[in-house]
Amino acid sequence: MKERFTVLKSDAEIRARIKELAADISKDYQHIQPDNPLLVLCTLRGAIFFSADLVRELTIPCEINFIKVQSYQGTRPAGSPIFELGERIDVRGREVLIVEDIVDTGQTMDTVMQNFSDKGAASIRIATMLDKPSRRYQHLVDHVKPDYIGFQIDDYFVVGWGLDYNEDFRLLPDIMIYDPDAE
Ligand code: IMP
Ligand code: MG
Repeated sequence: MKERFTVLKSDAEIRARIKELAADISKDYQHIQPDNPLLVLCTLRGAIFFSADLVRELTIPCEINFIKVQSYQGTRPAGSPIFELGERIDVRGREVLIVEDIVDTGQTMDTVMQNFSDKGAASIRIATMLDKPSRRYQHLVDHVKPDYIGFQIDDYFVVGWGLDYNEDFRLLPDIMIYDPDAE
């Protein structure tokens, strides 16, 4: 019998991995000064817990703000994600770290990076809790490469730790593979 939920990454594994990522990020951004802190952009809603835990482990000056990008709206094609929040955050001369829950086809992060690089960010990197490289759109393979990855996973649909299925299961304490067709 197929299970509806199967633990893929436990809460303890995720928390331990976040500490490692935070150490890597703090090291790479050692040059950051308090007068121009790292601008951490949490991608709502999925990345809320990951961002909150990550920023509290960073040892460099940082500021947190929020963006929200919708991949689908009404009949709009899936290929054109649009900003619902944060498009106009002033990033001129800022070092920006976008924090995402999961990078899948790559089109969301492509849109976000394009927007903020057009607006004059000094640098843009991506930290994602999960990466599903096998799902990346071919034309984005060389373009959307997260700089900090919690875990690379196979092509599963996952929920928990901020990730949802139609707004359900976000608060589950572990990252679970979700099979809506299981008994
Ligand atoms: P992309 O634009 O295809 O890379 O999609 C990224 C967004 O799709 C993520 O920020 C998630 O909101 C959502 N997503 C992709 N895969 C999953 C999954 O396995 N579980 C929950 N949400 C997902
Ligand atoms: Mg998302």
